[in-house]
Amino acid sequence: MSKKRVLIVYYSYTQQTRIQLKQFIAGLESSGVEVVQERLEPITPYAYPFATNARLVAAMLMTFFQKRMAIKPVAASCLADSWDCIVLAGPTWSYNPSGPVLDFLDRYGKEVCGGQLVVPFISCRSYWFLHYWTLKRRLCRYGATVEQPVVFNHPVKEPWRTIGLLIKLRGWEITRRKYSWLRQHYPKYGHSQEQRVDALEQGKKLAEKLLCDSCR
Ligand SMILES: Cc1cc2nc3c(=O)[nH]c(=O)nc-3n(C[C@H](O)[C@H](O)[C@H](O)COP(=O)(O)O)c2cc1C
Repeated sequence: MSKKRVLIVYYSYTQQTRIQLKQFIAGLESSGVEVVQERLEPITPYAYPFATNARLVAAMLMTFFQKRMAIKPVAASCLADSWDCIVLAGPTWSYNPSGPVLDFLDRYGKEVCGGQLVVPFISCRSYWFLHYWTLKRRLCRYGATVEQPVVFNHPVKEPWRTIGLLIKLRGWEITRRKYSWLRQHYPKYGHSQEQRVDALEQGKKLAEKLLCDSCR
């Protein structure tokens, strides 16, 4: 049986998608799947952190209206090769897929994902459904088969996770004091160790599915 090949197209701004993907890929590779990664690189990315509140609010507004963020050309191998599955990964921005992923879909979606099996992979604070639905609608238009998404929410209760996200995006330091009131509610930004283990398992699960499908 020939080796299964998975293309992972991803964008990550604060590295949460990337960290989760690392484990997911380890799960795929431990089951013998070959993985090729394509990182989407914006031509003019948002500076990190946002220098002013006004810039952050402007970014939230523009992403709410699905403003594209132009990316550099993707590798030719993405377009030429055929895949057993494509994982399209990135953060949720104002309920939508991020600007670089939207630009990828506009420019390469049909050519790369058309007729393929696609798994959306989402890292977000908490609201991912519209993001998934937008991807699904676009991908189905290109004739792709869209699987259930792999989703990771920030595992802290509201309002702390929103406050923590804003603090992170502005580059403010959460006090290092162990017993500060904020740290008690919000230990850290992003995904947890348990979610990394879950990502590894999800990678193995996808590998199993791909291998089983080819046995039928
Ligand atoms: C401009 C912007 C808008 C965001 N909007 C949302 C949102 O609408 N819903 C949500 O759950 N998370 C939202 N987030 C949070 C990110 O989805 C979340 O922090 C994610 O883990 C970041 O992944 P990354 O590090 O791979 O970029 C937003 C983040 C940014 C920078």
